[in-house]
Amino acid sequence: MNDKVLVHPVEKVATLIYDNKVEGSMFVAQNIASVIQRNNEENKHTVLGLATGNSPLLVYKELIRYHREEGLSFKNVVTFNLDEYYPMGKKDDHSYNHFIFENFLSQIDVRPENVHIPDGELPLNEVDRYCKDYDDKIESLGGLDVQILGIGRSGHIGFNEPGSKITDGTRLLELDSVTISDASEGFGGISNVPTKAITMGVKTILQAKKIFLVAWGTEKAEVIQKAIEGSISSEVSASFLQNHDDTLFVLDPAAASRLARFAKP
Ligand code: GLP
Repeated sequence: MNDKVLVHPVEKVATLIYDNKVEGSMFVAQNIASVIQRNNEENKHTVLGLATGNSPLLVYKELIRYHREEGLSFKNVVTFNLDEYYPMGKKDDHSYNHFIFENFLSQIDVRPENVHIPDGELPLNEVDRYCKDYDDKIESLGGLDVQILGIGRSGHIGFNEPGSKITDGTRLLELDSVTISDASEGFGGISNVPTKAITMGVKTILQAKKIFLVAWGTEKAEVIQKAIEGSISSEVSASFLQNHDDTLFVLDPAAASRLARFAKP
C-alpha cells in the first residue's frame, strides 16, 4: 500500500485525499500503467475491471496519454466492464458499451477479442448462463488484476444496489430508485431509464487483486462516509470493500468532507 495513505482510527479502508480529481486520477492511472508495464515486460497479460460513469474519466484520459506519449501498450490487456443497463442496445448512446469505447477503448491498442462488456441485448432466458460464464471467464484468466470503481449515491459499486450480498456473482438485478433518479437527466426523463441492469457481483469484484475506488464532489460525501466509516452492510455495498486487503479510496476534499477526520476534528 502507498506510504502516503493516512490511516485514521475510525476509517476502515485505506483512503488517499488529493487536492483535486486531476491529481487523484493521475495517481490511479500511474499505478495501473505500472501494473500493465510490469506484466508486459514479463510477457504476461493484465486483467482490468473497468467502471463507467464520470468518476473514472480522467483516469482513462491519463491512461490514453500513457499509450500515446509513453508507448504503453494494451495489447496484453484483457478488460471486463462492470455493468450494463438491461435491456440496452450496444450502439445506443446511453449504453455503457458506447461510453467505454468512446472514452477509452477506441483510443488504445486493446485487441477487440480481449474486451468484455455485459451484453444488454441478450434474450432474458440466456442472461443467467451468460452471467455465470462472465465470472468463469474472469476466473479462468486468473482473476482481475486491477478493478476501477466509482460509487453511486445508493452505495452501489457496479450496480450492486442495496440488498446485494457478498456472495453475489454477476447477475441481472433491479435498479434502486436513487440510481434511476440520478440517471434520469442523461436519459431525458425518469421514464426512459431502464429499471434493470447486469452487474458484476460483489463477490466477483472482491476477488480482484487490487481495487481503486474514485469519488469526487460533495454529492458523494455522505455515501463515502458510510462506506469508509460505517459497518459492513448490504445497505451500502461499497462497505464490503472493508473486507478487501488491497483497496484504496482516492478522493478529493469535497468527497472526503464528511469523514470524521474533517467533520469532527
Ligand atoms: C453508475 C454506474 C456505476 C458508477 C456510478 C457513479 O450507476 N453503474 O458503476 O460508479 O454510476 O457514476 P458517476 O461516476 O457518474 O457519479
